[in-house]
Amino acid sequence: MEQAIKHVAIIMDGNGRWATQRYRPRVWGHVRGSGVVSDIVQAADDMGVRALTMYAFSTENWSRPHEEVGVLFRLLHKFLLKERRRILSNAISFRVIGDTRRLPAETRAVIADLEARTMEAPGLKLTFCFGYGGRSEIVAAANRFHEANPGMEMTEGDLAAQLFRPDAGEVDLLIRTGGEQRVSNFLLWQIAYAELYFTPTKWPDFTAGEFGKILNAVARRERRFGGLAPLGMSAPSAGEAQSMNV
Ligand code: FPP
Repeated sequence: MEQAIKHVAIIMDGNGRWATQRYRPRVWGHVRGSGVVSDIVQAADDMGVRALTMYAFSTENWSRPHEEVGVLFRLLHKFLLKERRRILSNAISFRVIGDTRRLPAETRAVIADLEARTMEAPGLKLTFCFGYGGRSEIVAAANRFHEANPGMEMTEGDLAAQLFRPDAGEVDLLIRTGGEQRVSNFLLWQIAYAELYFTPTKWPDFTAGEFGKILNAVARRERRFGGLAPLGMSAPSAGEAQSMNV
């Protein structure tokens, strides 16, 4: 059966608390968490999701201790080397969006190579957000539009076309692990009509099994996009509206 949820976005939260609860340094949570990233990419692909966007490092994360930022950089590098073959053999289309200028040159080179080699790949659109913020993505999109079309009025479609990865489309489901209930400047434009799912599970404990259960639960939710349900309570007739004085 076709997967109803086409684009899933994930805020992978709770690594630090997971480690602290185990009397380990916070970065241990990131190490364990990076293994979970591989499991969830595979699960999304197996379950027929078309796009998966993961928040690996926000613009706010630059304020973390230097060592923690360094560990996150190294984990990203190791992930790319470890998963490169699987990304290629599963025809995954891989992109990193955000400000990657502060990443080490060798990591940027691995990213550029993988992006170029998977540019036309027809499979899962996998996006890592690194040095990413939703507001700056929208501002950059507006600036790009105005540079190309000076003085022209912009439509919603024009702006959407200038986002970092327009082909991933709108988000159907945003999952946040770790128990907080915030969107934290993630994909602000793309989540306008997304279903939100907050799980208390901290990212290192998140599994493909829980991911699948969330997808099934959310696929049963009714999405109305601001309209009315196809069945159930119908709109009032003109006469009914008049008798209600509205
Ligand atoms: C939030 O945990 C998570 C992050 C800041 C980054 C997510 C990174 C990974 C899952 C590992 C890196 C892997 C790859 C492949 C890039 P937190 O430290 O904010 O948790 P806390 O809220 O418990 O402090």
